Amino acid sequence: MPWTEKDFIFKDNHYPSNRLEITEEAPSNIALVKYWGKYGLQRPMNPSISFTLSQSKTITKAILTPLGKPANKVSFQFYLDNRHQPAFEPKIARFFDLIHRYTPFVFQYDWQIYSHNTFPHSSGIASSASGFAALAKLIMNLEKQINPYQNALYYLQKTSFLARLGSGSAARSISGPVMLWGEHPQIAGTSDLYATLPDFDLHPVFQNFKDSIVLVETGQKKVSSTAGHALMDQHPFKNIRIQQAFDNVIKMNQILKTGDISHFIDIVEAEALGLHAMMMTSRPNYILMQPGTLQIIHSLRQIRKEHNIPVCFTLDAGANVHVLYPEGEKNKLQKIFFDNLEHKIIFDYL
Ligand code: DP6
Repeated sequence: MPWTEKDFIFKDNHYPSNRLEITEEAPSNIALVKYWGKYGLQRPMNPSISFTLSQSKTITKAILTPLGKPANKVSFQFYLDNRHQPAFEPKIARFFDLIHRYTPFVFQYDWQIYSHNTFPHSSGIASSASGFAALAKLIMNLEKQINPYQNALYYLQKTSFLARLGSGSAARSISGPVMLWGEHPQIAGTSDLYATLPDFDLHPVFQNFKDSIVLVETGQKKVSSTAGHALMDQHPFKNIRIQQAFDNVIKMNQILKTGDISHFIDIVEAEALGLHAMMMTSRPNYILMQPGTLQIIHSLRQIRKEHNIPVCFTLDAGANVHVLYPEGEKNKLQKIFFDNLEHKIIFDYL
């Protein structure tokens, strides 16, 4: 039986009363079937499935100083690359507000949080998934110090549960190589509250997959994901999209098990274009793809046809293109594709 919210409420009121320093890291992830639209408190309208990007991590250290008596809101400061970043703090404060019910010991400390991403700064890569996942891991590290008696699955699922309250896709940034978030009636153990690991081994074809990002645009997102998700509430194609994602998750599960790379390509690209189609047909609508995005998509498709290389693309909520391919194709792709681009590329993201 999946865990419920109640299972995650922490009841112990003992906690370490000395100064603590905890470091944890969490990977980024790229969705193959996209999470788009949410309801209630950070629950997804549809299940999603992602590859874990183990080379692209957020590493976070927290210095915890006991307060003596608990505060009524969490006292903290956030630093990115050793620079204080007040702009990030409202989202983190909201996260602490949402999780304190499940981890009341967070009130007992002042938190000085130092984060660093292994992927380039201001590269247009979202760090909120790996960032909140690393923070959730830190908090669960502390919980484990207080109460080490739960089983490994409890710690994994509660970490994902907490991360989800920071950012939905962060639920999938806890473990790997694949994670599935969102309840699916045909997949046992799945939940809207946290992401789960599949009950099968990833086919070897996908075990050495690469994700290189072509940076068409860097900097701040034009429309936040949260605003984008909200537009799904009244979207004219909402029900069709939800059904499509439920179907694609079943198909993708089968593909990841059997190694059917040609259907993998079909679904991954359809999901990426479907996500952007939702943005382009909502009210108000918006376009995140840039001319460079389309140019890269066209040339990848041409290369796939002409050279018979199993390469495909996916997109997040932005203009940058994630290029997915088996490691063995890297040199060939370098010569016929990457070397000819004028854009900056981040290799070995996965
Ligand atoms: C397009 O997880 O960033 O990347 O829950 O509001 O923080 P919030 O949204 P976020 O949405 C990510 C959407 C996506 C697709 C995906 O990763 O599944």
